[in-house]
Formats: sequence, C-alpha cells, structure tokens
Amino acid sequence: MKALVLAGGSGTRLRPITHTSAKQLVPVANKPVLFYGLEAIADAGITDVGIIVGETAAEIEAAVGDGAGLGIEVTYIRQEAPLGLAHAVLVARDFLGDEPFVMYLGDNLIIGGISGLVEEFRRSRPDALILLTKVSNPSAFGVAELGPGGQIVRLVEKPQQPLSDLALVGVYLFGSVVHDAVRAIKPSARGELEITEAIQWLVDGDYEVAPHMVEGYWKDTGRLDDMLETNRHLLESLEPDVRGVIDEDSTVVGRVVVEEGASLVRSTVRGPAIIGRDTKIVDSYVGPFTSIYYSCTIENTEIEYSIVLERATIRGIGRIEDSLIGRDVEVVSSGARPRAHRLMLGDHSRVSVAPTS
Ligand code: G1P
Repeated sequence: MKALVLAGGSGTRLRPITHTSAKQLVPVANKPVLFYGLEAIADAGITDVGIIVGETAAEIEAAVGDGAGLGIEVTYIRQEAPLGLAHAVLVARDFLGDEPFVMYLGDNLIIGGISGLVEEFRRSRPDALILLTKVSNPSAFGVAELGPGGQIVRLVEKPQQPLSDLALVGVYLFGSVVHDAVRAIKPSARGELEITEAIQWLVDGDYEVAPHMVEGYWKDTGRLDDMLETNRHLLESLEPDVRGVIDEDSTVVGRVVVEEGASLVRSTVRGPAIIGRDTKIVDSYVGPFTSIYYSCTIENTEIEYSIVLERATIRGIGRIEDSLIGRDVEVVSSGARPRAHRLMLGDHSRVSVAPTS
C-alpha cells in the first residue's frame, strides 16, 4: 500500500501567513501540521509516500527531505496548479500504479492516527473507504448523505443547503478503480477536479464505497480558528519537560515544555504551553494554549491562546489572545510621538486593536 499526501494548494484562508510559507508547515504544538500526518502514515506501516507539491515545493522539500527521519521514503510529485484533489490523483498516476493507497490532505490532523483505518481497508478491501464526522458548519466541507442502511447515497462538495451534518474528513483510502473515476469527472464550478465527485462517480457505478465514522478528534487546520483550536487540543496532552533555564523570579505552572536553550526571566508560564528552543521570555506572562516556536523574544507582554512562529519579537504589548504571529514578525510598543499605531502589514493581514479606555 502507498500513501499520497497533498501539500500543494495555496492556503488562501490562512493569508498572509501563506503568502510566504506553506500552510502545511505552520507548527501546532511546535511541530508542522504536515509532520503529524506523515507520522500517522509511518505508524500505519506505510513507507512509500508520494507528496504532491505546488508553489511551495522548495519549502516542503527542505522540511521533509527524503523522509528517512520519519521512517518513510518520499517521492515528490509536482502539481503545476492547484486544480483539485482529484487532479492530484491524476498527476500521481505513475507513482501510484495499481496499488491501493491512502490519500491524506496535508493540513488535516486526526488524533489517534490512521492505523485502524488502514487495517479495516486491508481486511474488507472496498473500492473506497471514506471518513465522516459530524460538524456544525457542513457547508464548509464535502457532505455525505447516508441511506437507511448507513450506505452512502450522495456526496456534495460544499453544498449551500447541506442535507446532513456529516463532513468528509481529508483522509481517504482507495483501490485502483479511483483512477477511472478521476479521469471521468469534469471540473466543478470552482474550476477544480473534486475528489468528492470522483467518489460520487464510484457510488453511481455501484462500486463499494464504505463510510467510517471518525470517533476521535479531527480538524482541517486551513483557517485561523481551527489552527488555534488544534493547538489547544494537542497541548492538552503535552508531557511537561523543562530543558531550558528558568530564573528564580519565574514561575511555571501545569503542563509546560521549555525547550533546550530557551529562557524565562521574571516571567510566568501557565500551561499547557510550549516555549521553543532559544526563545526568551522576559517580564511576561504566557497563558494556557500557547505555542511559541524557536528563537522568539517575548518581553513585557501577556500572551494566551496563540501561536507564535520562529524569530518573532513581541515587546511591550499589553495582552495578546487568539492570535497567529508569523515568522520574523515584530510587534512592539514605542514611546514615540505622536502616539499612534504604526503598521507595516502584508497583504490580507488582519489586525484587531483593543480600544483604549
Ligand atoms: C477538502 C475537500 C472537502 C473535505 C475537506 C476536508 O476541502 O474538498 O470535501 O471535506 O477537504 O478537510 P478544502 O479544504 O480543499 O476546501
């Protein structure tokens, strides 16, 4: 069995972060999202992994390399434009051959892995096994309608009037007949070859499409809220581990990781939280559900329920919550007159300033 991991796509819902980097490499609990998927694939005993890459190919390749560090062997497959998930299967035809495969969207995260699913697929060998879960906003996903016997009747991509609250999760298992399906379908209204329609083609052709309910935690991390929520969830099971230096005027409470080379000076960290290597926290408060990546500086600031990427500096800012701060970003206060917010923000940035009372 092989795996096909999708790490192309332009990540428009996470701009401006994705103007400069791949959404699959944004870290949650200080590890790029994509790595959770690759680890789940390796844990399921699959070593032959194709990764679909697009514009951010160089960055993905630099992060994952040949996969040896993860116990897998990676083949990179270039998708010239993000023309849909089914298009990715088309361009991976040579790599996949006629072997069954698991297709894994690189920005999806399933806690508990995929070993059970892969086993179920191997045992019953349907033409496709799809994962479903109940969501509160089905129109943001592919939606499945089940018949009285629990069989799949219809799949619709991002319907305006969803007929159920069962969303398609971004992990699919396929037998080789899916290659006929992706060749048969036409681009959707958004101009993409939808995997949802390819699966509908299988249903219509009386191929066996087996549904599987996801019991555990699943998130598509393509939007800020979901990214922060996934971070919260992962941090909840963090194993405390302090390797950095905590001075005697600092306090660390609860599940906290302080990585090698990090330092806490006159600060409080209330877990679950993770402080990356070589990051300095000075005269600050880091609250629950916060992940600060490596080589950051946090000074005179309170921050909670947030993700901070590498080398960011935050200084003299009252309090930050619900935020994703990009690489090398500076958020600092200045005493300069006139007293004003001075901003240099990338395209599609979002700033929400607390009113001064
Ligand atoms: C894709 C699929 C959708 C599925 C979702 C899961 O949507 O098209 O059917 O429910 O992944 O994450 P996208 O994230 O590309 O909008």
